[in-house]
Amino acid sequence: MRVDIVSIFPEYFAPLDLSLIGKARANGTLRLAVHDLRTWTHDVHRTVDDTPYGGGPGMVMRPEPWGEALDALAPGELSPDGHTLPRLIVPSPAGVPFTQALAHELAAESHLLFACGRYEGIDQRVLDHAATRMPVTEVSLGDYVLFGGEVAVLVILEAVTRLLPGVLGNAGSLDEESHAHGLLEAPLYTKPATWRGLDVPEVLRSGDHGRIARWRRDEALLRTAGRRPDMIGALAPETLDKRDRAT
Ligand code: ADE
Repeated sequence: MRVDIVSIFPEYFAPLDLSLIGKARANGTLRLAVHDLRTWTHDVHRTVDDTPYGGGPGMVMRPEPWGEALDALAPGELSPDGHTLPRLIVPSPAGVPFTQALAHELAAESHLLFACGRYEGIDQRVLDHAATRMPVTEVSLGDYVLFGGEVAVLVILEAVTRLLPGVLGNAGSLDEESHAHGLLEAPLYTKPATWRGLDVPEVLRSGDHGRIARWRRDEALLRTAGRRPDMIGALAPETLDKRDRAT
């Protein structure tokens, strides 16, 4: 997958050399480039912002540098299959919620282009113009406001990269983890069997795979009901068995 990131703070992305994302970059699974938006300014102050039309607090990012950045990184027009151009992702508290389902959708793209807004946001015309020639999705991490899109891109990219083929050593862990089946994952334990007087649940040491699977499913249901009742409400009834209902 090819990924381009445009930001006025390219230094934010130094951690992308580390750990499994760094490895995915080193082996070519992830071809990532970070670009400084100010490359596409032409005044001595390398200005990227201005006051908002209509008044109000803060500053808005001017359209010109963004327009040039997107022209440079996504040249051309929308092709019939839509595949020669990247999908533009703009982190914003006004975006659609970022979910594991959206992470899967993005992991299937061949080229993602992230535009990191700062201040109050980017002039709307940048997004409207980009949308005439490539898919554009504004994405929110949650119902809170960050200083800018940089940290959101780190989060989105980490969730997406671990879904790329070959990135996780054990692809089975993708199937077990929280959100994989619309439920939170059951608690995890490792050795020693007793630590500070606390025992690992007996069932997990029983070797009885049927009982273990049932215990994990029950714990996942109870945990999800307690912490995320919204997720229980969203479960498709046909995915529940009789024992689930008893839980
Ligand atoms: N930029 C500022 N706040 C944000 C949020 N909650 N999600 C994504 N991008 C943001």
